[in-house]
Amino acid sequence: MHHHLSLRALLGLSAWAVPSIAASIGTNDVSVTTSSCDDFWLEKIKHQGVAPFGGDGYKVFRNVKDYGAKGDGEHDDTEAINRAISDGERCGPGCTGSTKTPALVYFPSGTYKLSAPIIDFYYTQLIGNPSCLPVLKAASSFKDRFLLDTNPYGANGLAWGATNVFWRQVANFVIDITGVSPETLVSGIHWPSSQATSLTNIVFKSSSAKGSQHQGLFVEEGSGGYMGDLVFEGGAQALSIGNQQFTMRNITIRGAKTAIQQLWSWGWTYTGVSIQDCELGFDFTAVDDKGALNVGSITITDSEIINTPVGISYGSANSTGPDAGNSFVFENLRISNVETAIKGPKGAVVPGSSGESVIEAWGRGHAYTETSTGPKKFEGDIQANTRPASLVSSSGHYYAHSKPQYENLPASDFVSARAAGAKGDGETDDTDALNKLFASAAAANKVVFLDAGMYVVTKTVYIPAGSRIVGEAFPVILSSGPFFASASKPKPVVQVGKCGGSTGRIEWSNTIVSTRGAQAGAILIEYNLASSPENPSGLWDVHVRIGGFAGSDLQLPQCAKTPNTTITESNLATECVAAFLSVHLTRYAAALYLENVWVWVADHDIEVGANNEQITVYAGRGLLVENSQGPFWFVGTSVEHHQLYEYQIVNSANLYLGQIQTETAYYQPNPDASHLPFAPRSGAPYYDPVFVKGESGWGLRVVDSKDVLVYGAGLYSFFDNYDVQCSQIGEGARCQERIFSVEGKKSERVRVYGLNTVGTNKMATVDGKDVIVWEDNVDGFVHSVAVFEKGV
Ligand SMILES: *[C@@H]1O[C@H](CO)[C@@H](O)[C@H](O)[C@H]1NC(C)=O
Ligand SMILES: *[C@@H]1O[C@H](CO)[C@@H](O)[C@H](O)[C@H]1NC(C)=O
Ligand SMILES: *[C@@H]1O[C@H](CO)[C@@H](O)[C@H](O)[C@H]1NC(C)=O
Repeated sequence: MHHHLSLRALLGLSAWAVPSIAASIGTNDVSVTTSSCDDFWLEKIKHQGVAPFGGDGYKVFRNVKDYGAKGDGEHDDTEAINRAISDGERCGPGCTGSTKTPALVYFPSGTYKLSAPIIDFYYTQLIGNPSCLPVLKAASSFKDRFLLDTNPYGANGLAWGATNVFWRQVANFVIDITGVSPETLVSGIHWPSSQATSLTNIVFKSSSAKGSQHQGLFVEEGSGGYMGDLVFEGGAQALSIGNQQFTMRNITIRGAKTAIQQLWSWGWTYTGVSIQDCELGFDFTAVDDKGALNVGSITITDSEIINTPVGISYGSANSTGPDAGNSFVFENLRISNVETAIKGPKGAVVPGSSGESVIEAWGRGHAYTETSTGPKKFEGDIQANTRPASLVSSSGHYYAHSKPQYENLPASDFVSARAAGAKGDGETDDTDALNKLFASAAAANKVVFLDAGMYVVTKTVYIPAGSRIVGEAFPVILSSGPFFASASKPKPVVQVGKCGGSTGRIEWSNTIVSTRGAQAGAILIEYNLASSPENPSGLWDVHVRIGGFAGSDLQLPQCAKTPNTTITESNLATECVAAFLSVHLTRYAAALYLENVWVWVADHDIEVGANNEQITVYAGRGLLVENSQGPFWFVGTSVEHHQLYEYQIVNSANLYLGQIQTETAYYQPNPDASHLPFAPRSGAPYYDPVFVKGESGWGLRVVDSKDVLVYGAGLYSFFDNYDVQCSQIGEGARCQERIFSVEGKKSERVRVYGLNTVGTNKMATVDGKDVIVWEDNVDGFVHSVAVFEKGV
């Protein structure tokens, strides 16, 4: 898989000018001096992260220059960079998955000339200097299909099944393929990937020569995911992308032939897209080899298309009226100098204009309300959501905030968890060390650097207002022991803000919260903090991971699946009951922004074997929002495999949710959701749902809540007691009966754009009455409704 020294010799012959630093800054409008390029804290800080299962001498942090990369624009850096990534028995192509060998591969500013692809590995962060983006530059001799190949093709297809590529990041780069002949089909990044991955703050440069075949980004498969803060220049397609679902935010595309070529989708959420000087903005016309539409649900919000003849194109040769396929809602789309705003198979559907106009809300597909008896087929303008003031910024767009990277802070503003006495070795009890560190760092206004490691905690870890925490290569806070053992007295593992209420603000990124062994009373994250809506708190790439990894004691040996045994109280594996509740936004929580948050109960063992062996790990509840007026933003979040529900929103208001994704526990209904392992607790503070015998958990349950605005929801049930047949085409969508419930007289302005379900008989249920049946909304493998609303 790795590349040869001989290529370096070959490339040494070509002369390259050293590009100026200014060129590498890309679109950042801050002007940066050369000296500050050397000042990024992550480069300066002492690196003492550990990997408890990585073997002796394993290094988590790698600076590519320590491996011989020059970054001078002349020297061929391919081999050095690939060595920095692969050093130390890591999980590369041929290894199914591993959490044991995390790596953060750092690129100082500079231009790295590449003659062959950079190959990414499992559980890897590739991070450039955000103040002076390093340039990965394809040499003119570059001949491969992808410059940064994160999932290369081998004899048996992709190196990693695209739906099992987790915990990866690529951030702060210029990806420049303009040196490759424009006739060559080449993409800057190949990214078939899934949850807990991200591409952020990247500038893609492709050739804009006439007839250019270049692509910035190519994604053909997976179960994403989030990406954002991306700029694309040139190319035949800036993005050529297909995946089950995605949230893409803050994407600027200039001078491509087609800005976004959608290869396929179940559901996709675009927000903050700016398309300028292209020939076609969004291309949703893809069909399969039989001519059936490939593109399912799409929502686009707060976006613009400028100086581009055709804004959006959809449909196929034989498309008729609006149906479940090509199911769209576009809300707040600004058009300027666009001849045809929206083009269907028979021509313009929404004309453009040489001046400016705004499409407030337009859609096509199937619409339902709580009183519908069947789908209303529609194509045209619709009523836009009334956006609560607390959810929007002064522009009227939904508030959003990119992950902080603290590039303007000196290294002296950071305090390391390991330097402060926490060990992160997967054994030592780090509770007191972390508690002391979080308290003192917040008081001294320092940023906590949570070095790579596994921090065992035996009591609650408290994160006070004023905290800023950033992890290295996804450190794990791991609960353990009797403190978290009792389901009748649940206890938070990480508590943000005091129970009873605290005001202030936090920023927290790049961290995983987990449990070890039986933890029936663990609430992984309890969030109590009230921030001001003008300055919300944020969680970026903070994930919950329950079971399936080394150190969890919840792997194949302990928690093998049991499809052939009827599970009852007496034989349920109590040693695999691993959490009470994953994330609780309590009545005291307000003004929180979540971006790229994956709350996952493992369905397979990451470490064992070549087949992603399935396991049964039990966790009671997914993400609960309880008695809060918000505002909350869920941008690219996913919650999977809990017993009672994935998302539950009770007595709450003012939520933006954009592409939420759920999966029902694969073991259900053996046992069903009704009482195993957790009997429901009704009333405050958990408000558990009650099920009759045989039912599976809710994907999304909304109770007495207002202004719940969902921009894309994929609620999936693939299995019936580990048998996948029930979700297959033509099998009657019989994995579970119901998956989405809206309840209570006080539920108002609950509106879902792009509702997609899999394997579920009834797609939406209001106060116990089923209002959407799958048969009316078939779109290939999924079932799609463009707009569902209750109480509007
Ligand atoms: C969008 O991304 C750019 C970097 O490409 C960044 O400078 C800008 O702050 C981002 N804007 C928002 C609203 O996130
Ligand atoms: C268009 O043709 C494909 C392939 O024959 C078929 O699957 C699809 O249902 C057709 N669509 C319509 C609207 O007739
Ligand atoms: C369940 O039983 C089937 C049929 O006997 C067998 O093939 C399968 O391996 C069993 N699965 C497990 C996890 O025991």
